[in-house]
Amino acid sequence: MKGTFRILFVDEVDSTNEYLKRVPFEDALFVVADRQTKGKGRRGKNWISERGKGLYLSGMFSLPPLPYRSLAGLSFAVATISVIRRYVDKAYLKWPNDVYVNGKKLCGILVEVLRDRLIVGIGVNVSYGRDELSHLDVPATSLLAEGVKVDRRVLAEELAERLVLYKRKLCTGNFCVSEFEKFCPMIGKTVKIIDGKKSPLARVLGIDREGALIVEFDDEEGRRVGRIFSADVSVRIL
Ligand code: BTN
Repeated sequence: MKGTFRILFVDEVDSTNEYLKRVPFEDALFVVADRQTKGKGRRGKNWISERGKGLYLSGMFSLPPLPYRSLAGLSFAVATISVIRRYVDKAYLKWPNDVYVNGKKLCGILVEVLRDRLIVGIGVNVSYGRDELSHLDVPATSLLAEGVKVDRRVLAEELAERLVLYKRKLCTGNFCVSEFEKFCPMIGKTVKIIDGKKSPLARVLGIDREGALIVEFDDEEGRRVGRIFSADVSVRIL
């Protein structure tokens, strides 16, 4: 079933997420900008937002009845990868909600929950050259660098349609954790958990019903299971 939505295409904004905080509430309203002057990433980072080189899209929804906030990000990540896989079949999800190809970030997702609305922002590197991404703090790639040309308008419409569908799933209590795991090659692998001071190694066992990463540490303190929440750390696959 196709959901209904409206997409505004604008030339330039500070951030498409911020734009949707300023306008009156409208369920399933999306905005796509050619350029952002203050593109925002997660954990206070910037998001590279040069004119015409990326897809900078945000969508606004009513608040779903979420038992745990992180489940929205996981579901929207599944929506996003299901579109990106049409273009790059080796794309995968890196917990909590990044799309990667061959160890390089292609796409990031920023979910913000406000009093009266949920905003999901998606940044896809579309036509940046590898050299233009080489200064970023994580290795990054673009659809063009992976040999794929896309029309940003078509991609925006495909993403909006999937996001509406996955928002509906969230509202019916279908949190897509097992779907996420299918797209996430981290499961079963050893990862480095980077939380500023320490970077312990752990094996990923899965994702629990709260959206936390379940990991098994095995070090001088012995073998034990821990839960990792996305706000705290970044996880690198070894
Ligand atoms: C991340 O991986 O850190 C999340 C990046 C999210 C970037 C997108 S681009 C469209 C929307 N507007 C923003 O300012 N950020 C999101």
